[in-house]
Amino acid sequence: MNTFSDQPGLKRPVLIDTDPGVDDALALLLAFAMPDIDVKAITTVFGNGPLDMMTHNAAGLLSLFGRTDIPIAAGCSKPRDAELGGDALFVHGPDGIGGNKAVPDTTPELDPRGALHLIADTASAHEGALILVALGPLTNIAAALDHDPDLDLRVRELIIMGGNAFGPGNATPTAEANILNDPEAADIVFGARWTVRMVGLDVTEKLRMPSQQRRELAAQTGPVGRVFDRAVPFYEDFYRNAAGFDGIVLHDPAAMMVLTHPNLFDWQPAPIRVETLGMSRGKTWPSLRNEGWHPPDWSGRPNIQIARTSDKENLLQEMMTLWRQGLVGNHT
Ligand code: BDR
Ligand code: CA
Repeated sequence: MNTFSDQPGLKRPVLIDTDPGVDDALALLLAFAMPDIDVKAITTVFGNGPLDMMTHNAAGLLSLFGRTDIPIAAGCSKPRDAELGGDALFVHGPDGIGGNKAVPDTTPELDPRGALHLIADTASAHEGALILVALGPLTNIAAALDHDPDLDLRVRELIIMGGNAFGPGNATPTAEANILNDPEAADIVFGARWTVRMVGLDVTEKLRMPSQQRRELAAQTGPVGRVFDRAVPFYEDFYRNAAGFDGIVLHDPAAMMVLTHPNLFDWQPAPIRVETLGMSRGKTWPSLRNEGWHPPDWSGRPNIQIARTSDKENLLQEMMTLWRQGLVGNHT
């Protein structure tokens, strides 16, 4: 049961589960720039690259932001019921974050509790108020439910970047990368009792930053400039070569903006199943019947709030405002 009610002046507690990843880094920059958001913890998961690399990048970003006070813990290194599949280093660079020393080469000081305990403890410390933001495969989130079976009743909301309810995939013609990385975990997470907002390719692929704006941000000093200057160009080159446009797709930043601007998205409620077999493995299927009846495979599953469209001009403008503010960090 959610017991949290918004109060002016109160910052909202957030835990981010992530696989950084260039667009994860951009999303983290947003979260740390949002004045009414308080990032309480970071957990890492395999995805864009191996777990150790993702953890190294997440810890490096915290160091860059001057926020080594935030607990960080490593989670799952492989999917719950399958072998580790391919990575996305061809999108994000050989080090997972642009291949150009975007983050300091720090040895991560990890929280000894590990990711599942950290998620459960943070939910307990902010009972009914914590918002989870999942930017990678849903392996940690499903495992956290195993670890704490009432977690879904104890957090305020789960925001997911993942899936493709209404259109094609990006990892395969049928599936989005985060969901394809662990469809079994995703099906568990979409079937649990929490309030879930899913921000999938239906909106994220349309949310793009032109290269000119990337270059503007790269010219800034501070952590924002460093990430846009060193991490983003590899990702930008990928989109130029693979999709033929001059700019980047803002997948994870789109999901992060739900924290502060849910009204810039149109939400379609529907239960979701995740295909786990065959060539459609990883496809998120909504049941869109609205007569209050769903076929047996969807019956009894909660409605997921699925982002169907977004006000992309205003979202990009709001993101630019946050990124332009920069961050006070401890680097030059
Ligand atoms: C998602 O997959 C990852 O490569 C990105 O970081 C994003 O979370 C997009 O499909
Ligand atoms: Ca990601």
